[in-house]
Amino acid sequence: MTENNEITLLSIESSCDDTGIAIVRKNGKNTHIIANKVESQVETHRKTGGVVPNIAGEMHTKALPILIDEAMKEANMTPDDISAIAVTVGPGLMPALLAGVHIAQEKAREWNKKIVPVHHLEGHIYSALLEATHEDIFPALALIVSGGNTMLIEVKGHLQYKILGKTRDDAIGEAFDKVARMLGLPYPGGPEISKLAKQGNSDAFPFPIPMKTSGDLDFSYSGLKTAVKYAIEEVGKESNADIAASFQKAAIESLIWKTNKALEEKPYNTLLLAGGVAANHELQKAMNDLAKQYNIPLATAPKALQGDNAAMIGQAGIFAHEAGRIKKERHIDATARLNIETLKPQLPVCDSLHLG
Ligand code: KG4
Repeated sequence: MTENNEITLLSIESSCDDTGIAIVRKNGKNTHIIANKVESQVETHRKTGGVVPNIAGEMHTKALPILIDEAMKEANMTPDDISAIAVTVGPGLMPALLAGVHIAQEKAREWNKKIVPVHHLEGHIYSALLEATHEDIFPALALIVSGGNTMLIEVKGHLQYKILGKTRDDAIGEAFDKVARMLGLPYPGGPEISKLAKQGNSDAFPFPIPMKTSGDLDFSYSGLKTAVKYAIEEVGKESNADIAASFQKAAIESLIWKTNKALEEKPYNTLLLAGGVAANHELQKAMNDLAKQYNIPLATAPKALQGDNAAMIGQAGIFAHEAGRIKKERHIDATARLNIETLKPQLPVCDSLHLG
């Protein structure tokens, strides 16, 4: 069994196209990732230019038990070493989420464990949050940028979230992927666009900065996507690098504009940047400059945890477990459109929830 004050979670992530299994342990104040296995389905989905939910679900169902065995072996653990199972219960593609929830339930029954339900974005937030080393981290402002989400979230304290703004249509990563497709680049398009953009002039096409005058903290990328489509139709493919650079500039400027607006509206002690698009160097630079301007630290997830993975679900799960968000296996369900504000801690969040 686990020792006093030590929590060890087996964690599961399968909300989109990455199958993840991790083992994460909190010992005193420190959180350690003991094993972290990620199997990407990207090669399969590249053929269709995007993720097909049912195929993703089937692939997760096949990969998850194998990765669980591998992670347990790598960590040299038996089920007795595991305190509970953390699993992403939403948001995401339903067949993909269900694959993770079902294996969590199966293992919980077999190993006689409880389940810690985790919101996918909580995982992204905690993998960045755990990189913060200063004293007063909260309130923190988190910019979450991925293939499925674009959100500004106020993190008031552990497990306490308020959505300040979100995309009204495409997520930023989705916009990168769709523009890449228009330019004939492979999926996932974000890294391809940012590579091509290095050779282009970002002022060549003055695309409008989306939602600059909306007055709120929401985002939108469908108008920018259409503007790029017209530009491609007008100038043809020889300007691809300039189009990529100009698109990237407008897309990032909209993120920075809204993050700056949120920082103007209320003081924060930390700025967090998380999600797959956080790998974009231009975005990282701009967020760094913003954090300096407000004299607060910018915390980002380590490179290996920027994409989807189960270690981040374990990291958030540890704090949720400490707060008593522990469920019987039959009380767990997948929710495709899960709101982060609704997954409350079970107990009042108290001082024992220290950061490592
Ligand atoms: O968080 P993530 O790994 O998966 C989910 O969305 O669930 O994010 C993947 C997204 C994809 O849309 C990909 O194109 C984008 O992150 N991405 C990038 C970069 N690297 C990955 N977008 C822009 N620039 C990048 N360097």
